[in-house]
Amino acid sequence: MPNINSIREIRKEYIQESLDEKHMHTSAIQQFQVWWNEALKSEIQEPNAMTLATASADGLPSARIVLLKDFDEKGFVFYTNYNSFKGQQLAENPRACLVFFWKELERQVRITGVTTKVSAIESDEYFNIRPEGSRIGAIASPQSQVISNREWLESEVKQLQNKFSSDAIKRPEHWGGYRLMPAIIEFWQGRPNRLHDRLQYTLQEDASWKIERLAP
Ligand SMILES: Cc1cc2nc3c(=O)[nH]c(=O)nc-3n(C[C@H](O)[C@H](O)[C@H](O)COP(=O)(O)O)c2cc1C
Repeated sequence: MPNINSIREIRKEYIQESLDEKHMHTSAIQQFQVWWNEALKSEIQEPNAMTLATASADGLPSARIVLLKDFDEKGFVFYTNYNSFKGQQLAENPRACLVFFWKELERQVRITGVTTKVSAIESDEYFNIRPEGSRIGAIASPQSQVISNREWLESEVKQLQNKFSSDAIKRPEHWGGYRLMPAIIEFWQGRPNRLHDRLQYTLQEDASWKIERLAP
């Protein structure tokens, strides 16, 4: 059983890489693409798992993991239940933040921006390539609501399985994607003695990115 002293003793020196402005892309999205490719190559399990932080209009924060399903110059896409707690917060306050921690690479990426819902067509396209079990689950689960017990959920799933053949399972309107359009992307690389490298890209009005070094 770890005690408080042994928790305090958990520490790791970061030694693998460094960040040099001269070798970074001028575009934050292209720089993310480079790191993404390296994350894929490094065989990190679920490199697309990211923390999504949201906040209510009155400032109550909340965070959870979701999976990145697409990214490009237009933004970073994830899928969820629009009626979930995060969905309610994003309806009140579309500003949000994504954080990746790729520990095998000693890297963190923080993406801050504004979310919008992706088009119904885009959500349909993604929903339709999900496995049947995931599609049924998306319909059956009133994400973030209190339910009476596990059996209730399982019986909802059974009823839906009996009701629909596989290709008749259509995306419910309350399930779909959000795209977070980044305003700021920070690339963090662990360095020895906690003197980490942090390069922050801020989107400018002319669509170029300003790159600044932040103190660790
Ligand atoms: C590895 C991992 C991946 C997840 N991916 C998603 C996802 O892509 N979409 C989603 O809605 N929830 C996903 N979840 C569940 C969420 O973390 C969360 O429990 C759920 O979305 C409800 O959050 P909310 O009540 O804050 O809205 C994932 C959880 C984990 C641990």
